[in-house]
Amino acid sequence: MAASKERVPVVIVEYDEIARTIARRIAEIIKERRREGGHAVLGLATGSTPIGIYRELIKMHREEGLDFSDVVTFNLDEYYPMKPESIHSYHRFMRENLFNHINVRPENIHIPRGDVPRDDVEVECEAYEASIKKAGGIDLQILGIGKTGHIGFNEPGSGADSRTRRISLDTVTRRDAAGDFFGEDNVPTEAITMGVASIMEAREIALVATGEHKAAIIKRAVEGEPDPDVAATYLQQHPNAVFYVDFAAAADLTRIRTPWVVGEVKWSRAKEIDAVIWLGETTGKSVLKLDENDYREHHLSSLLARYGKAGPLNGEVFNALIAKIRGRSKLPAGKKVVVFSPHPDDDVISMGGMLNKLHQNRNDIVVAYQTSGNIAVFDHEVRRYADFLRRFGNDFDINDSAAGALIEEVEEFLESKSVGEIDAFPVQVMKRAIREAEAVSGIETFGMRREQARFLNLPFYQTGKVRKDPIGPEDVRIVHELLEDVKPELVFVAGDLSDPHGTHRMCLEAIQQALAKYSGLPPEIWYYRGAWQEWEIAEADVLVPLSEDELRAKKMAIFKHQSQKDRAPFPGQDDREFWQRVEERNRNTAQRVDRLGLPEYFAMEAYVVRRAGVPIESEMVATSSLAEKEISRSRAGKAKARR
Ligand code: F6R
Repeated sequence: MAASKERVPVVIVEYDEIARTIARRIAEIIKERRREGGHAVLGLATGSTPIGIYRELIKMHREEGLDFSDVVTFNLDEYYPMKPESIHSYHRFMRENLFNHINVRPENIHIPRGDVPRDDVEVECEAYEASIKKAGGIDLQILGIGKTGHIGFNEPGSGADSRTRRISLDTVTRRDAAGDFFGEDNVPTEAITMGVASIMEAREIALVATGEHKAAIIKRAVEGEPDPDVAATYLQQHPNAVFYVDFAAAADLTRIRTPWVVGEVKWSRAKEIDAVIWLGETTGKSVLKLDENDYREHHLSSLLARYGKAGPLNGEVFNALIAKIRGRSKLPAGKKVVVFSPHPDDDVISMGGMLNKLHQNRNDIVVAYQTSGNIAVFDHEVRRYADFLRRFGNDFDINDSAAGALIEEVEEFLESKSVGEIDAFPVQVMKRAIREAEAVSGIETFGMRREQARFLNLPFYQTGKVRKDPIGPEDVRIVHELLEDVKPELVFVAGDLSDPHGTHRMCLEAIQQALAKYSGLPPEIWYYRGAWQEWEIAEADVLVPLSEDELRAKKMAIFKHQSQKDRAPFPGQDDREFWQRVEERNRNTAQRVDRLGLPEYFAMEAYVVRRAGVPIESEMVATSSLAEKEISRSRAGKAKARR
């Protein structure tokens, strides 16, 4: 069957569906245990992944009266050292995201303590294990997965028999947490975590992963050999563990990436192109040179059979690829265009080449910056601008008392600011203004005017913290108002598939909700991929060639975002600057196209084009329902076996 490389059941659905499914399962367990005269014991996780599940549970508590009064909970882990009241503590996370909103009893909540003296940690951990046992063991354990493959904080090397203990955090994990802690140096080096054995004793396990940044580790955990260096592979040996992943996190699984390798494929035009590109890249041949043997030797006989010979198939795909390449003369001209940019630099980073060409083609363009991006401005930038303002005021003798006092307030605040402290309001405003001025300067490099920039400053982003609020009616109203005002024929949107709680994904949600209310003709939507990745050649609908000069112009625009240059506050795992990543990404696409035997360009941007309302991932939906059936079948089988 199609999923034969998978060593653990995997359900692939959208995140909302994952959250609802697991919340419903939790409700079922709570009621079942109560009916049996006992109580449910839940194993809980923190991080961005389970937030949607907690939101669903809160909703079920409020709307359906789901009762948690006898439920006992155990959390996987806590940083060490960490005070429970700290803004970074998992104690606080759980209160804010779940416990404060349901009727769980405080005495039934268990979270490892990060504030016990070092000498007492071992005893504390033993006590934690004992209380799990005393509660009757965990009925359902929710897990996320780290980029290292950790579950809980069981970093590479964790043994199958490990129990709750203090552990050193991996560099990759600490770097991932750097954003939350305003810098890697502030991330604790240790944590207390339930062990692999403690997790494996749960009667049922649901591991959840979302976003493209999890795709590689999900493939490793699902298809790779069991390995102590990837703790999640231990779950392959659990009798009742299921991986719930969204489309982005599933993207590298064999049945998604190269389904022909593992079974029968229902061929569509898109899959044909995908398979031929893969065959070309696997064999190192250009498309027109692929022969029958290449197809036969690489699991593609069924595709070959549709055409009889390699020639016509190669020709079809070659022509389809050529048709994707659209230079300036084949790009929109004289249209009304809205470019949505989640942060003030995504426009130039991800679609700078396109923006330049659209402007040259005399389109009527508005660039709508959705958030201020002020969280990503270093304090030293503000100090520099405050100093500039002071000098400016002195030079022109306009430092009236109000302006002078404000500058002083800003400088004093920054002087005494502690790590991770939310910025005072004037500092937030200055950081926003710094990024707005950079954005204007960025589009001006293409000859565009300042008035073409609109700063939406969506409220969901304005928490002053790394974690944002959910998209609310006011966010949607602001985007909707812009659409009604401009009435665009074309809309450019960041189509990142990553983390549903990430800013890009939330910005996309605000646009989708606004478009659903929009009274004008539905515009065509052009999705660019965010700062981290590029569309695959197969999935892209449009490939835009860039000359060396055009790529240079694009880099110039990126340079204008000085607050993000040299060292971005949120660099992710990649140490390179944005312009370097862009250069590599755009040149790489062009080189791949070239190797497939198409014209050789210097660089290329890629876009996916859809009508409003048609999701990017629509192709994959069929796979997910199939997987769901598999799970319910395997669950029913197991239930029977237990009885
Ligand atoms: C959290 C935990 C970790 C996270 C993992 C993924 O309690 O134990 O294993 O589940 O690091 O984190 P997110 O969900 O933030 O990607």
